[in-house]
Amino acid sequence: MADTLSITSGSERAELPITEGSVRATDLRAIPTPDGPLTSFDPGFVNTASCHSSITYIDGDAGILEYRGYPVDQLADGSTHLEVAHLLMFGELPTASELEAWENEINTHRFVHENVGQIIESFRYDAHPMAKLMSGVASMQTFYPSARRIEDPESRRRNVVRLIAKMPTLAAWSYRHSIGRHRVYPNDELNYVENFLAMLFQSQQRVYRPDPRVTRAMEVLFILHADHEQNCSTNAVRAVASAGNDLYTSAGAGVGALFGPLHGGANEAVLRMLREIGHVDNVGEFLEGVKNGRAKLMGFGHRVYKNYDPRAKVIKRSTEEVFEVTGINPLLEIAVELERIALNEEYFVKRRLYPNVDFYSGLIYEALRFPPEMFTVLFAVPRTVGWCAQWLEGVTDPEQKIMRPKQIYTGHRARTFVPMDERDA
Ligand code: SDX
Repeated sequence: MADTLSITSGSERAELPITEGSVRATDLRAIPTPDGPLTSFDPGFVNTASCHSSITYIDGDAGILEYRGYPVDQLADGSTHLEVAHLLMFGELPTASELEAWENEINTHRFVHENVGQIIESFRYDAHPMAKLMSGVASMQTFYPSARRIEDPESRRRNVVRLIAKMPTLAAWSYRHSIGRHRVYPNDELNYVENFLAMLFQSQQRVYRPDPRVTRAMEVLFILHADHEQNCSTNAVRAVASAGNDLYTSAGAGVGALFGPLHGGANEAVLRMLREIGHVDNVGEFLEGVKNGRAKLMGFGHRVYKNYDPRAKVIKRSTEEVFEVTGINPLLEIAVELERIALNEEYFVKRRLYPNVDFYSGLIYEALRFPPEMFTVLFAVPRTVGWCAQWLEGVTDPEQKIMRPKQIYTGHRARTFVPMDERDA
């Protein structure tokens, strides 16, 4: 017998079908209430599914994360960012010839129009690079107006390729502008990640070639950050896309959502928190402040993971490889002590707060001498792949409609206008 949800309201009764572990919220409308047809109320969509998706699977209780069914730790160990991008975009791991064609297609689109560089340089040098990146991404629609033809499969693919290809260039230019350095252009002799590092760190005097261990660590970080189902920034991308917007306009909204300190901005906040703690002897006092509500333990907790974020485990392993090259980051000792205590303290255990993807990534970025303001930019570059895959899925989903939630109104009703001379002070 099919599962059903029985709902009784006064003399009214309804049996709602339960399918895929859910009821359709629109079925609730069959039940009249004194406030109108029954609706669901779910601030922050804590328990609401917004779409069907086949891209990324998460089991938060078990700490499982899979891209198109492949565990992310296996991909981190054996794949590259562009190979994972192919998997997320098209649903399958590429053959060797498919990967070569895909890499060549991406790498021939890495240049960005000079005007976009000028847009980035029109900001104050010390403007946050995420603001520069958001503007650069959104401006790209004006250089590729055909991207507005979202019903055209060829146009969709061409602009997905362009955005994945150009994001490292936009990110590197945002960084170079912040440090007053000239723009470095893509180098076709380098692969996707090496080229990104070279555009960031190339100095006039010598040709920059990253240490292979650093390149590998960045590949792993890119793979781990590529997608994460319906997170805040992906929801923003899908919401803007649902109004019929092109990829660049939608991804610009994604950059804005990721900027938030509770989302992609957490890696920057983690470093500031570790610096504020200053010494491992101060960890206990800081955690007391967290338990008293005076601070959040940034890099801990997650809406979905009520277990260790599988990405945090892999990133923690990568810190050791990077520190072989850069020397160990002194803040690591504080981070390890924070984790040791938090994993055993009742406050955190009861709330199932574990390290998330942002807890260790910032330590690697700092060891690579990125300023904290760049950390979320380093999240946005790989997450562009997820935004593209989710945008493609959303704009071609026959179930999708323009996103326009309801509300529960709590304000005044039906008041009569009061002329100025009759208003009280
Ligand atoms: C990302 O969604 C995604 O998939 C995001 C992401 C992705 O890949 O896209 O995984 C990337 O954004 C990771 C999360 C990075 N953010 C942080 O590290 C910031 C710190 N974390 C929190 O702000 C919080 O944990 C959230 C925002 C991540 C999740 O918040 P929820 O699910 O809304 O949980 P909540 O705020 O309702 O917290 C439940 C309880 C509360 O305590 P009580 O009110 O019950 O007493 O846990 C407490 C919260 O105060 N709590 C924390 C805490 N996180 C939650 N207390 C101290 N420190 C924290 N970090």
